[in-house]
Amino acid sequence: MIDIENNKYFHLHNENISYLFYVMENKELGSLYFGKALGDLSIDDLTYISTYHNPSAGVVNFSPNIPNFTLADRRQEYPTYGTSDFREGAINLSRDDEYLYTDFVYESFEVKKGIARNLSFPSAYGDDGEELIIKLVDKGHELELYLSYFIFPQVSAIVRQVQIKNVGKYALTVENLQSSVLSLPNSNYDFLQLSGAWTKERHIKKRPLVQGITKVESLRGASSHQENPFIALVDKNVTNSTGEIYASNLIYSGNFVSQVQVDEWNTTRLMTGINPQQFCWKFEKDESFTSPQAVLFYTSNGYNGLMRQTHSFVKNHIVDLKWKKRKRPIVLNNWEATYFDFNEDKLLNLAKQAKALGIECFVLDDGWFGKRDNDRTSLGNWTVNMRKFPQGLGHFSDQLHALGLQFGLWFEPEMVSPDTEIFKKHPDWIVHHPYERYSVGRGQYVLDFANPEVVDNIYQQMAHILSNIKIDYIKWDMNRNITEAYSPYLKKQRLPQGEFFHRYIQGVYHLYEKLLRHFPDLLIEGCASGGGRFDLGILFYSPQIWPSDDSDALERLDIMQGTLLAYPLSTFSNHVSAVPNDQVKRMTSLSFRQNVACFGPLGYELDLNKLSEKEKEEIKQEIRWYKENRNLLVNGKFDELLSLNNNNTYAWSVSSKRKQIIGFYRKLARPNEELDQYLIPSNIDLNAQYQINDHTLVSGNVLHNFGLREPYQFNAANENTAELFGDFQSYLYQLVHK
Ligand code: GLA
Repeated sequence: MIDIENNKYFHLHNENISYLFYVMENKELGSLYFGKALGDLSIDDLTYISTYHNPSAGVVNFSPNIPNFTLADRRQEYPTYGTSDFREGAINLSRDDEYLYTDFVYESFEVKKGIARNLSFPSAYGDDGEELIIKLVDKGHELELYLSYFIFPQVSAIVRQVQIKNVGKYALTVENLQSSVLSLPNSNYDFLQLSGAWTKERHIKKRPLVQGITKVESLRGASSHQENPFIALVDKNVTNSTGEIYASNLIYSGNFVSQVQVDEWNTTRLMTGINPQQFCWKFEKDESFTSPQAVLFYTSNGYNGLMRQTHSFVKNHIVDLKWKKRKRPIVLNNWEATYFDFNEDKLLNLAKQAKALGIECFVLDDGWFGKRDNDRTSLGNWTVNMRKFPQGLGHFSDQLHALGLQFGLWFEPEMVSPDTEIFKKHPDWIVHHPYERYSVGRGQYVLDFANPEVVDNIYQQMAHILSNIKIDYIKWDMNRNITEAYSPYLKKQRLPQGEFFHRYIQGVYHLYEKLLRHFPDLLIEGCASGGGRFDLGILFYSPQIWPSDDSDALERLDIMQGTLLAYPLSTFSNHVSAVPNDQVKRMTSLSFRQNVACFGPLGYELDLNKLSEKEKEEIKQEIRWYKENRNLLVNGKFDELLSLNNNNTYAWSVSSKRKQIIGFYRKLARPNEELDQYLIPSNIDLNAQYQINDHTLVSGNVLHNFGLREPYQFNAANENTAELFGDFQSYLYQLVHK
């Protein structure tokens, strides 16, 4: 999987992809290829591939010793700015007030097999993985640079990471250290991003690449609702099953940048990493700084091909593997059912009804602690509200467990309210600038998680609850972004404030690590006002995330469609909520809401007292059916069956060898629509027979060529012909391989 020729050519490959780079004339690393597998390459092949015709002779030469050599147009593995390349570089360093113009030349390599899961910082892992570490040195500046490349046999992805080490005598500052660079020979792609806002996260947006920089980023202290670190360069004619896609994601939850620069020769440089704005890291002699990891994907099989890779990567190399085997519980979350207005009796009544419906876990959301009856108070005071739970929370938990339900509990560990004791005692524990006003968001302050003492205090409070009460699940929320970024702790430590954002996120990961080390069976659900931190960093610890505070099933269609390009179904918490929906006041049928929510881990978030007997029966049936198909719906192979350009109809499929479930959804009814709406299922065995919805039997060949014929009409024009009337319609198909 890792071939090295002549100490010069490096070829990482598996059955599907090849990634190739080499040592250039100036001894820096040049990029040669990322794409379909090339198989074994001879030295002649490698020499041929690396033959270079310089289009830009005449611009600044790199070195007088290598005539006609310039970096200006070179595709490089880890470019620096400031010599003969005027594009943005991947690394910027300074000493006192001076910038360093570094020149990292190849020195040696090392190969390691097997990559262990290490809870201290999110990173890809896998026993079958291999790592190639390239050591580069800049003798003049007394620096070592280590470029790591990871490859796994089963996924078309290369994971990259960078470490810079100071072996000189002076303290230096990292101003920028991107995690990965991908250099492509042309720019004939659309730039795809997952963007939106609170309550409408990760919608697919595309724009053509043109000369210059195209980027998405976050400066909010979290990966954000607005942008996601995932980006893709997609073939202009991409379909669900054809077309090349290069995609990139970052295993990180803080400020990031994912950008593409197209130069005057139309070559493309994609970089992703910690956002260099508001960032620096000081490192002294013998100290080093390591970037988060980034992952690069390749497919030539369109969006479904991409999802095959991104989903497999997340399930097998990011999320803890144990969550693939363990059942994700069907939850009832009380937030939209009660908001802050509850007590033990009210909740127990809901829990009993939930149990009767087949629900498996009761998640107690915000409002169980301190004197929290609204969102202005008590964060950071993780003691039980005895008015709401007169016999303590342990008593409530015991009753849930006696009913046969698991118990989940909400925390917002990173925040504090102004009236909380720890804030009054330690006003310096919050993120705030000493000289200026500071902003309050949702009535709360952000705790300075760069300060280990703060993280430890919150850990102790949480551990006290978790050790004394049987808790199976926690929901970790984070409801405001960071403003006036400044850490009083770093000031005391005489560390630069530019380190704050990264140290904050390290503090977040440290708390996750401590919790999971001491309570390894906890299922931690991620959340940040819905999907404000839906990223690979959080997924390393939390197998699933609440994707959005908009629980409207219609809005979820777009959120899920976008999110699914980068993250598998198993990472979603999907809840069926009440109508009219609390966020948009839309009315949709219970069956529509259940048909959307059942793709992935299922939950309910509504007042069960308000349901009719008929609705309860419908939910019971759904849950019974879901339990039979849960593994397929959470872990099955996912495919989009309709074009992603169409934002009125959606069709999703999950399949295994034996069974396929297809959900069809239509937002608005339109009269007299064209009749080419027959859905072609995915992964059909042409020689097999399939049973559709327990009756019709049809051959794979016919199904593959003619598609699904029932309901015959998705239109809504005429009662005699239409089978799905009106807006917000859905239909579920089940195909069983006979
Ligand atoms: C955030 C979450 C919601 C809920 C509330 C509670 O908005 O996204 O799901 O937990 O906080 O305050």
